Amino acid sequence: MNKVLSIFIGVLISTSVFAQRDPNLGIIPAPVSVTRANGNFILDKTTVLINQSIDGAKSADLLNAFIVTKAGFALRETKIAQPNQKSILLTSVGADVLPAEGYTIKVTPNQIILTGKGAGLFYAIQSVMQMMPDKIADKIIIPAVDINDYPRFTYRGTMLDVGRHFFPISFIKKYIDQLAYYKINTFHWHLTDDQGWRLEIKKYPKLTSVGSVRNGTIIGHYPGDGNYLTEVKGFYTQNEAKEIVKYAAERYITVIPEIELPGHASAAIAAYPELSCFPDRDTFISDKTPWSGSRKGKQVQQTWGVFDDIFVPSENTFNFLNNILDEVIAVFPSKYIHIGGDEAPKTYWKESPFCQALMKEKGLKDEHELQSYFIQTIEKHVNAKGRSIIGWDEILEGGLAPNATVMSWRGEAGGIAAAQQNHDVIMTPGSMGLYIDHKQSNSPDEPVTIGGFAPYQKIYAYDPIPKVLTDDQRKYIKGVQANLWSEYIKTPEKAENHAFPRLLALSEIAWSPVDRKDLKNFSEERLPVHLARLDKMNINLWVPTPIGQSDKTLTGGDFTIDLKVPVTGGKIYYSLDESRPSENAFLYTAPVKITVPKGEKRTLKTIVIAPSGRRSVTNETILNNGAPDVKTEVKK
Ligand code: ACM
Repeated sequence: MNKVLSIFIGVLISTSVFAQRDPNLGIIPAPVSVTRANGNFILDKTTVLINQSIDGAKSADLLNAFIVTKAGFALRETKIAQPNQKSILLTSVGADVLPAEGYTIKVTPNQIILTGKGAGLFYAIQSVMQMMPDKIADKIIIPAVDINDYPRFTYRGTMLDVGRHFFPISFIKKYIDQLAYYKINTFHWHLTDDQGWRLEIKKYPKLTSVGSVRNGTIIGHYPGDGNYLTEVKGFYTQNEAKEIVKYAAERYITVIPEIELPGHASAAIAAYPELSCFPDRDTFISDKTPWSGSRKGKQVQQTWGVFDDIFVPSENTFNFLNNILDEVIAVFPSKYIHIGGDEAPKTYWKESPFCQALMKEKGLKDEHELQSYFIQTIEKHVNAKGRSIIGWDEILEGGLAPNATVMSWRGEAGGIAAAQQNHDVIMTPGSMGLYIDHKQSNSPDEPVTIGGFAPYQKIYAYDPIPKVLTDDQRKYIKGVQANLWSEYIKTPEKAENHAFPRLLALSEIAWSPVDRKDLKNFSEERLPVHLARLDKMNINLWVPTPIGQSDKTLTGGDFTIDLKVPVTGGKIYYSLDESRPSENAFLYTAPVKITVPKGEKRTLKTIVIAPSGRRSVTNETILNNGAPDVKTEVKK
């Protein structure tokens, strides 16, 4: 190497090492342990790729395809490395002693060894992808390191509601790609609801010909300012669903289908009214509900909420649901089938002579016990097929089905009660930030959402294992999940805006040990790089507001405005004169000192613009020095 080039590379290495100061090497979720060593591995065209894993060619192909995009060349694959030849080795030797889904990565100046099998090796490759910096002069400089990694929870999930709005297969695949990149291993697919039935069932074609179509949708927030008066429809054929199952499995993601019962059943009842306690009764539609088309007969719902017309617990219904579940089980190989169980009002069951007679016959003391009877009947069928049910935490009411897993959404209480009864639990409490349909800021610029407040920091702060559980009970907490309900999410772009960056915070609480949690490192070191990647991939992330800016009132006379850009390559623009900032405002480049005169206030308004042009909401901080109209005072 000539001297000029070697000096140049020396500079590059030091720049790169500077960029790799992050103790987690930029990896999300943070690995269990990352131990830095001396030196760097310099990946260039002479590096060879050796695949000795038991997983066949797919892991090596995945890594090499990534290297092509990152370095601009593919690595030559060989069986063994020549002396002094730099290599990347994929191996399963030693993988048997690793925890499930675990892997190790060892980087030395001569070799990178990825050890794992199945999901473990796949996750090793995801981590390597994340720790590789950009190339400089056709070289990628990777610091020497030992990484040992495995998940905290076996279930790391996210739910997508396609009942309220339909999302195309192309989007589901794009979404699954990101789940895999962040080691989220469960995609819970909420396929049926009052506003749409989204899965082809061959035995009951009206479920999709009738149940997947609604004539309209309310405009704006419930109860609505009008109705769009436009059909909303869509469903997945069983072949498409199988395609998603296969696509996900190739990425070590299990797809869990949800078929809602006995509530949230309006779409199914619109298709087959005999599933109702009162087949001849029109669907109840409040006078306040703006409606499109006929209000007569059974209707697919056009508004949001909880509806009284639920499945009647008759033999006919159980046969019908069992036949549906048989088809679902044939499409989805997952151990778990989600059967809903939430928000089933008992009004119609109370009114129904059939239900009351059934309760008497079965010795059920109230309608909660009838719900429990319903779920247990379904569970028996699912168990007989070798599968297990998951239900929302209402399945605790009236007595848990013997083998059910409980998904705790109304806070943590359901999960705690289930674990205390020795039942498996998935934690997804809305109150802890796991409802990612909630809004992410308090800015008026925030798009219309269902409400709530769940910034990614709130998810990050959540520990899925409730402190009240004994050591023995804690083992029933199998994992954690974030839920994306789609009442107010009509498009894939908006779904992405809700999901990112929150799914990255979910990934870390689901995978990393509690003692590896570090919000500052996550937000300031790793997240900006990941958000820039998502931005570049045209994923419509929610651009965070500047790091270091409060959205509250600060009191005092002298302030230093000290901000950091939350998306690498993005820019912060700000104003202090009440004008709305845009790229025409001041570009923030360095801390700004400001003195607010006594009795006055100033408003710092900022906007972040990501490299693609995507924008944050406007964030406001009131800098108050005793001005009378500011009530909340938060000390800096
Ligand atoms: C739910 O949010 N109804 C489970």
